Amino acid sequence: MQTLRDIASLRAAIRDLRSTGGRIALVPTMGALHEGHMSLVRAAKARADHVIASIFVNPAQFGPNEDFDAYPRREEDDAAMLAAESIAVLWLPLVAEMYPNGFSTTVSVNGVSEGLCGAARPGHFDGVATVVAKLLNQIRPDLALFGEKDYQQLAIIRRMARDLDMNVEVVGVPIARAEDGLALSSRNAYLSAEERAAAAHLPKAMQAAVQALEAGEDARVVLDITRARLETAGFDPVDYVELCDAESLRPVRTLAAPARLLVAARLGRTRLIDNLPVSSRS
Ligand code: PAJ
Repeated sequence: MQTLRDIASLRAAIRDLRSTGGRIALVPTMGALHEGHMSLVRAAKARADHVIASIFVNPAQFGPNEDFDAYPRREEDDAAMLAAESIAVLWLPLVAEMYPNGFSTTVSVNGVSEGLCGAARPGHFDGVATVVAKLLNQIRPDLALFGEKDYQQLAIIRRMARDLDMNVEVVGVPIARAEDGLALSSRNAYLSAEERAAAAHLPKAMQAAVQALEAGEDARVVLDITRARLETAGFDPVDYVELCDAESLRPVRTLAAPARLLVAARLGRTRLIDNLPVSSRS
């Protein structure tokens, strides 16, 4: 595995990989890698000949009161985990390389980025779309893999790739979960032991909600009950409990098409997100 930190070396390495033929897959991350990230790497290895992983804690996607400084950074451990998977390249750009003096371009994906986390975190998805567009331009991979864990992010990147004629296959990978159902996340490291125990209520309440929705119960009632369950379990505030069209992410209250249940809620200082598919009733 080559570890690269500047664009010139990255370009040279990609030229070499391209000259050997085969498909190149990109797995973008912000590091503090866990099994969720590694499931993306393994899915990439299964689909491509060469895998490039990037680690970049992207300042542009953190709000002024968010956790950019506190965000876990574990470069050595991350590099060892990736090396163990024998990927081709670890791309570790510096902030000055990604955002040179005078940087003035923003990629903004309307519609799908506006509700849910887009409403709670203004500017966040512009930061994500811009950095992912840059990574895709730098590497020009045949495919790029993203987790369903960040379902809205995945929908935004699909939309951006389609809208901007990016010649890349965007692949969504299912959520990797802990034994008690909690979706793996770098931010779970912020949870105290007590909060970590309470966090398991999130996937449980969501599974119960999906069951009720698929059994035909009224969506409004199910969403209200789920919110109340989370509040009782200590989540404060519950940002949203929403049922959305699986593609456009517009709120829906009937199950005519594939839908997604999406939740964001805070436990102490940690904001957790999760989502589950809801089958359509036909
Ligand atoms: P990060 O939070 O590090 O996540 C990197 C990738 O891993 C994302 O595609 C995310 O959805 C996926 N992922 C995280 N936890 C997962 C889990 N439990 N199961 C499956 N996939 C999981 O998402 C970002 O970084 C950034 O926004 C990024 C796309 C890198 C742009 O900066």
